[in-house]
Amino acid sequence: MKNRQWILTSKPMKLVTTDELELRTGEISEPGPGEVLLQLLFISLDPGQQVYMTSTQQNLPGGIVNVGDVVRAWAVGRVVASRSERFPVGSYARDLNGIAGVQEYATLHESTIVKVDPDQAPLPVHLSSLGMPGLTAYFGMLDIGRPREQETVVVSGASGAVGSVAGQVARIKGCRTVGIAGGATKCRYVVEELGFDACVDYRAPDFINALRQACPEGIDVYFDNVGGSVLDACLGHMSMRGRIAFCGAVADYGGSQPYAIRNYMAVLLKGLRWEGVNFYRYADQAPAAIAEMAGWIGAGQLRHREDIHAGLENFVTTFHKLFEGGNFGKLILQVHKDEDI
Ligand SMILES: NC(=O)c1ccc[n+]([C@@H]2O[C@H](COP(=O)([O-])OP(=O)(O)OC[C@H]3O[C@@H](n4cnc5c(N)ncnc54)[C@H](OP(=O)(O)O)[C@@H]3O)[C@@H](O)[C@H]2O)c1
Repeated sequence: MKNRQWILTSKPMKLVTTDELELRTGEISEPGPGEVLLQLLFISLDPGQQVYMTSTQQNLPGGIVNVGDVVRAWAVGRVVASRSERFPVGSYARDLNGIAGVQEYATLHESTIVKVDPDQAPLPVHLSSLGMPGLTAYFGMLDIGRPREQETVVVSGASGAVGSVAGQVARIKGCRTVGIAGGATKCRYVVEELGFDACVDYRAPDFINALRQACPEGIDVYFDNVGGSVLDACLGHMSMRGRIAFCGAVADYGGSQPYAIRNYMAVLLKGLRWEGVNFYRYADQAPAAIAEMAGWIGAGQLRHREDIHAGLENFVTTFHKLFEGGNFGKLILQVHKDEDI
């Protein structure tokens, strides 16, 4: 068996293209003691992959992609060979730390994977609400945003994988939730399907006024997925002692020059707390969080949407959708169909 893999051939200076990536065919390594061979079914495409590919900081949480490496990615797959008693052939698993990679097969140690129950939720949901993005949203909102009942919580990237969960967690906790998303269709989805109280289109010319109108008493918690000018607008409308959960800056990942924030003095003048969200910090609490979110999904309180595209060869064009607003829900690449196995 051969393994098709996307390999980084040089470090990108802006949004990665096929100039820096190559689809190569490699060997499959047989599992050693305690290892399994996973045939990857669904691969998670995340804006953070751009950061892993661009960065040269070896101590980045989770690690980076060096030249010659397979591109990092979370994935869910089926065990096709096993030297682990915990993961028999035919069982499903996903990796814990985004090391499965953008490839067809991954040989992984049992300590780096977790069982996935397809009866609990369809397999792609284990990469969205019940996977890394859902956990990031859950802990980022509850541990860093710390929303209190009746407070106004604003979430950018509100229709996306992390934002959709972050806003719904705040809604479940009794907050007034306001989303920010690109375009009328996504804004309608955020209100009508996800149950936010309002949603503001950041691409509309009256964005800042619309944001103020949607949050007449200011923003108590801002969950930031995008950075840039949207972050600046929210900084300018925070309440006293507000909290910003800084989860990501997708608006800045593809550019060489970071956006120059103007309203940073609000942090000082309003006594704000502005803290980064780090998914890896909460690994030991993940099982309890997944159980709680699975309960919310079962009860119809937490809605999810996956945007699934087929074909490993389409990785680069599909990945670009994250930076163009071309995805609608959690972006996933399907590599094999389950019945192919
Ligand atoms: N800190 C952590 O541990 C951690 C973990 C996971 C993810 N993250 C971060 O969380 C954020 C969201 O990730 P996700 O997987 O949920 O992605 P996503 O929201 O599903 O997809 C990305 C979305 O970003 C929006 N976007 C793209 N360019 C933009 C721009 N210039 N300005 C404003 N919005 C823009 C687009 O939505 P619109 O159509 O609405 O523009 C796009 O659909 C990312 O920044 C990611 O890096 C952080």
